[in-house]
Amino acid sequence: MLTVRHLDAHYGKSRALSDISLDLAEGEIVGLLGRNGAGKTTLLRSLVGLVQRQVGSLTLDGVDISGWSVDRLSRAGIVLVPDYRGVIGALTVEQNLQIAERRGSSFSLHDAYVLFPRLKQRRASSGAALSGGEQQMLAIARGMMCGPRVLLLDEPTEGLAPVIIQEIVDALTKLQMEGHRLSIVIVDQNIDVCLNLAGRQYILELGRIVYEGTSAELAADHDIQQRFLGVDHGSGH
Ligand SMILES: Nc1ncnc2c1ncn2[C@@H]1O[C@H](COP(=O)(O)OP(=O)(O)O)[C@@H](O)[C@H]1O
Ligand SMILES: [Mg+2]
Repeated sequence: MLTVRHLDAHYGKSRALSDISLDLAEGEIVGLLGRNGAGKTTLLRSLVGLVQRQVGSLTLDGVDISGWSVDRLSRAGIVLVPDYRGVIGALTVEQNLQIAERRGSSFSLHDAYVLFPRLKQRRASSGAALSGGEQQMLAIARGMMCGPRVLLLDEPTEGLAPVIIQEIVDALTKLQMEGHRLSIVIVDQNIDVCLNLAGRQYILELGRIVYEGTSAELAADHDIQQRFLGVDHGSGH
């Protein structure tokens, strides 16, 4: 559904992404892993047009979207939930959701509250009063209110307690099962979150894709995990 071929991005003269190609099928969740500074955030931002990039081709449902503006990409349903979450502190939870609502979106305020009951309890609280976990839930729900086809999640579980991480993983699983025709790219330092949610994984290193495989393949490949993610499974001796 979304295809990226030969994408490069630069910050000034320094190259941040080189020759990135990836595919995302409808309803699929894909993990994007890699150490700090590997280029994960840059890649997500370049897909929504927030970072200047050059592409061989970029298509959504076979349509060339490579020249589209940030606004047009967003209206076409390519939606980023940024790592800084972007909750508006001066507005209530409900207002944060309402301003994101888009005509034609199949995801309503009611759906947001069913997905995250905590947000319903907190509906009249100001964004500034929320815990980190509640802010993340709000950021995801707000992204859903735009009626996305492709949801790009940048470090949704960063800094959160295990029980909250589980709530977020469960909610994302539910979203996929409910079939909003939704595809998700999830960036997370927590490899278990990516392995649990996504069927396939890409690993970035120094702005290049250095590994692509199913989650089962990556889970079994301790060498790759060690080399590119610094995951130490121990030698057992
Ligand atoms: N706004 C920016 N200006 C210049 N360089 C940047 C900017 N944002 C990120 N970089 C650089 O681009 C590279 C990739 O960063 P980033 O995409 O944030 O990685 P990740 O999300 O994987 O940690 C890093 O070397 C980083 O220092
Ligand atoms: Mg990042």
